[in-house]
Amino acid sequence: MKKFLFAAFTIATAFILFSFVAADKKPAWNIPAKYTAMKISKKGDKESIALGKTLYVKHCKSCHGGGKGDGAKAASLKTEMDDLTTAAFKALPDGNKYYMAFVGRGDMPNFEKKITDEEERWAIINYLNSL
Ligand code: HEC
Repeated sequence: MKKFLFAAFTIATAFILFSFVAADKKPAWNIPAKYTAMKISKKGDKESIALGKTLYVKHCKSCHGGGKGDGAKAASLKTEMDDLTTAAFKALPDGNKYYMAFVGRGDMPNFEKKITDEEERWAIINYLNSL
């Protein structure tokens, strides 16, 4: 009986721990197809990257820091930020990055009214791709 109780306890603990780990993982971004289909303008263009950097420093750095989610405000946010400098992030369609960066969700602010110029928006995506 003791053995059985121990096994049952172990299994229950494992389930509880697993559900915490699973709950901790961020849900995937749900990107509308029309965004995924969007094409970046001036891809890799140096001037665009430079403009993107200026805008990133102004609007994004406080939270995202150097791209790894290590900005000054990061500790006060409830949602963890992904590392924007990884190959996995870079491999995402540029339109998906555009949606995440300007439409946002939850703790990631919506920038559609703050950054209205399409060229400026794509400049930021160009900068992210250069990190
Ligand atoms: C107030 C802090 C804050 C600012 C300012 C901010 N972000 Fe975010 N950002 C977040 C948080 C938090 C997430 C994660 C949101 C989630 O997964 O629900 C996020 C997510 C993202 C993602 C998707 C990757 C991920 O972590 O899920 C991209 C891309 C992104 N932000 C780009 C930008 C850009 C570009 C700017 C500036 C125009 C910006 N962010 C400004 C907090 C911020």
